[in-house]
Amino acid sequence: MPNLIVLGTQWGDEGKGKIVDLLTDRADVIVRYQGGHNAGHTIVSDGEKFILHLIPSGILHADKLCVIGNGVALDPHALVEEREMLTKRGVSVDRNLRISDACHLILPYHRAIDKESEKFRGTRRIGTTGRGIGPAYVDKMARIGIRLGDLANPSLFREKLEQNLAETNYLLEKLYTTHGLDAETIYSQTMSLADRILPFMDDTALTLHKAIKNGKTLLFEGAQGTLLDVDHGTYPFVTSSNSSAGGALTGTGVGPTAIDRVLGVTKAYTTRVGSGPFPTELINESGEYLREKGQEFGATTGRARRCGWFDAPAVRYACRINGISEIALTKIDVLDALPSLKIATGYEINGKKTEEFPRRVELLETARPVYESHPGWTQPTSGVRDFNALPDNAKRYIARIEELIEVPVTVLSTGVGREDTIIRQDPFAAR
Ligand code: IMP
Repeated sequence: MPNLIVLGTQWGDEGKGKIVDLLTDRADVIVRYQGGHNAGHTIVSDGEKFILHLIPSGILHADKLCVIGNGVALDPHALVEEREMLTKRGVSVDRNLRISDACHLILPYHRAIDKESEKFRGTRRIGTTGRGIGPAYVDKMARIGIRLGDLANPSLFREKLEQNLAETNYLLEKLYTTHGLDAETIYSQTMSLADRILPFMDDTALTLHKAIKNGKTLLFEGAQGTLLDVDHGTYPFVTSSNSSAGGALTGTGVGPTAIDRVLGVTKAYTTRVGSGPFPTELINESGEYLREKGQEFGATTGRARRCGWFDAPAVRYACRINGISEIALTKIDVLDALPSLKIATGYEINGKKTEEFPRRVELLETARPVYESHPGWTQPTSGVRDFNALPDNAKRYIARIEELIEVPVTVLSTGVGREDTIIRQDPFAAR
C-alpha cells in the first residue's frame, strides 16, 4: 500500500487529526515530522474526545507504531504530560512510540524568549502559541540546539545548557529587561523527566527505512498548514518549521522516492489563528456564525479563530507547493444553514486582478478578494455518509472547488466522528 503524507492546505486547523485517525486503520506507521506541541489535533474516538499536541494521532490505535521524527521540536514536559493523559485514559503508549534522538528540545528559556519577543514586537507580533517553538528552531539553525540524544549524556547536556543560558540570560535581562533563568533548575527539572522519555529514543530514520523495506505503509501526519510554512507560507506570519510536504522528508530522513501520494486537508471555508493577512476574513455576523457553528476555537490555546470564505487561489497554491494528489474537504456541514456562500477566485491588488496567491505578504495584506456567489443548500449534511445523498447545491459547491483548485475532492467530512465521512476514493487503494 502507498506511503501517504496528510497535511493542511490552509492556515492549520483543517481537521487533519480526524482524517489521520480515520486513515490510520490502513497504515502501519504514523509519523509526525515537524512542529511541536503548538499543534492541536482533535479526535473523537468512540464518542470520546482526545486533543493531541505532540504524539501522532495514530496512538489511539493499539497496534500502530507512532514515530516522532527529527523535525519535531520536543518539549519534554509536554511529552510526559501527554503520555500521562493518554495512559490515564486507557491508551497504551509505551509499546508503540519512538522518538528521534535528533529531535531538538524546547526548554524553559525558549518559552521565555517566545513570550518576551512577542511583547517586544508590539503590533508586528506574530501571535504565536507561546510554546517556545520559534526560539527552539532558531537554536537548531544557529547550531546551538540541544537534542534528545544529549539527555543520554548528562554532562554534555549540562555544558550545552550553561553555554546557551549565558547568552539567553543576557538577552532576557539586558534587552527584554526581565529576569534570567537558572541553569541548575532547568538541568534538574529536565533530567527528572529523562527516564520517562529516553526509553522512547530511537534512530527513527533507520526504523522507518526498515519499515519501508519490509513493505509497511507509512502515514506522515502534518501539523499546522501550508500557509504557515516558514518558506512557503505568509512569511513572517508563519510557524518556524516546514509544514509543507518537503518537511516530511527532512523531518524524518525518508527519501522522496518513498512517498506515493499527498492528501491535502482543506476546510470548506477558511480560518486562521494569530496575526497576518487573511483576504477573505469576515469581520461580521457571517464570521461569527462560522466561528460558533464550526466551534472555531484553538485546540491548543483556546483562542477564537478568525473565520472567512473559501479562498481558492490560496488552496490551489498549497496544492502546487505540496504536489497534492487528492483533497479531504472537511466541515462542509458547518455551511448548512447559510442561504448563500462565497468563494474567492482571485484578488485585486493595487488595482490589478490576479488569480494567483501572492507570495509577498505586503501584497497579500492589500489584496481584495474577487468573489463569486453560490446558493446555499439550507439542508442538513451533518452525518451524511453517501455522496449522492448530499443536496445538489452542496455537490455544486464541491465541484466548483475542485475546478478552481485543480485537484479532486476524494474524501468529505460531515461531522466529528470517524463514521461521518464520505470516501469517494480511498487514498490507499491501488490505482
Ligand atoms: P508558533 O508556531 O507558536 O510559533 O506560532 C506561529 C503562528 O502559527 C501563529 O500565528 C500561530 O497561531 C500559528 N499556529 C501554530 N500552530 C498552529 C496550529 O496547530 N494551528 C493553527 N495555527 C497554528
